[in-house]
Amino acid sequence: MKIAMVGSGYVGLVSGACFADFGHNVVCIDKDQGKIDRLHAGVMPIYEPGLDALVDTNVKAGRLSFTTDLGEGIAGADAIFIAVGTPSRRGDGHADLTFVYEVAREVGEKLSNDAVIVTKSTVPVGTGDEVERIIGETGTAHRFAVVSNPEFLREGAAIGDFKRPDRIVIGAEDEFGREVMRAVYRPLFLNESPILFTSRRTSELIKYAANAFLATKITFINEMADLCEKVGANVQDVSRGIGMDGRIGSKFLHAGPGYGGSCFPKDTLALLKTAEDYDSPVRIIEAVVKVNDTRKRAMGRKVVDALGGMEAARGKKAALLGLTFKPNTDDMRDSPAIAVAQTLMDAGVHVAAYDPEGIEQARPLLPGVTMCANAYEAITDADVVVIVTEWDAFRALDLARVKALAKAPVMVDLRNIYNPQDMAAAGFAYTSVGRG
Ligand code: UDX
Repeated sequence: MKIAMVGSGYVGLVSGACFADFGHNVVCIDKDQGKIDRLHAGVMPIYEPGLDALVDTNVKAGRLSFTTDLGEGIAGADAIFIAVGTPSRRGDGHADLTFVYEVAREVGEKLSNDAVIVTKSTVPVGTGDEVERIIGETGTAHRFAVVSNPEFLREGAAIGDFKRPDRIVIGAEDEFGREVMRAVYRPLFLNESPILFTSRRTSELIKYAANAFLATKITFINEMADLCEKVGANVQDVSRGIGMDGRIGSKFLHAGPGYGGSCFPKDTLALLKTAEDYDSPVRIIEAVVKVNDTRKRAMGRKVVDALGGMEAARGKKAALLGLTFKPNTDDMRDSPAIAVAQTLMDAGVHVAAYDPEGIEQARPLLPGVTMCANAYEAITDADVVVIVTEWDAFRALDLARVKALAKAPVMVDLRNIYNPQDMAAAGFAYTSVGRG
């Protein structure tokens, strides 16, 4: 099969490389000449474990190529994926579909054979209908079908998620669409990955419902963590205790500083907008969004408390370990670290920080923060060490060295990666999340 991937960002590039690895012939298209030049030179535009090797292998095998020319890239393609960004629209939180619709129009104008057009970008319910209308409007003489095929990749684990998905969701309105998608995903059926065929609108909603549900699960356990601190209970045991119930499931019950990233914050907001447009409120998600927003700054105040309160904190130094919204990525989008650092700086605390991959992305977002070359440099003379993101490198800090370098042995662990008993034994004043 020949597959064209329009948009070579996170989703497009990972999906394109994985499809090529399954033996399909894939062209990744992007209008950013610089990005395509770098890809030709083997330089990845994003940090994702294993991606550079996967791209390299498939380029060398002649199954994966890159171009800025959409007409050339889609020529002969059986399936044309739209994987461009759908950022939150400034002002109202709606998903901005400008790029999706621009691509749809251009695809319609340049279509040179029958093809299935697949929206992989996260798009609100009804976008597929609009894409179909736009392509139809171009007057193309070729047969086309518009299909929804949402992506459930996690950053940092994207290749594994793509190759061994929990499920594949395909929203198609006709047999042409279903037939081509079956062929596209045939290598995965052989792995027995479950596939759900449904209507296009349902498929579009599934993506938002999945992300909103996961965001709710995290927010639920975060509020339980607050309650645990008040009543003297342990949130990790609460997670285990409820997670062993198969109906609840143990995943996404890790309490922390609140969810961030490129998906949950944007998709929950977009779902609220859809709900508003259709006059069908989703009040649970309204609460989730509010609770998560306030939580991030509350985590900054937790650090201020560890420094002895507002008065005492002024002029002290905090070392933040981890800035990205989660480990194994350089992504800073909506990272809780931003609000934590901001709250600390507002309280007059000096902030030094280190992150294994995110420093360059973090710099413009946190101009007042001193970026350090490693964890121990950040910790030097700090009055408090704060674990913000659970990178593996922070799980085995040399605690004796931390104590020797820091001004005071105080740690706030927002990811619960250390054990309170061990930390007490090591002589630290240690605060974590939900372990009262
Ligand atoms: C998410 C979805 O998992 C993925 O299916 C979708 O396609 C895109 O959005 P991603 O944003 O890469 O993926 O990260 P994920 O691992 O899901 O984590 C999201 C946020 O939730 C992070 O800030 C993480 O720290 C937080 N989180 C996750 C928790 O606080 N607790 C948990 O138990 C799990």
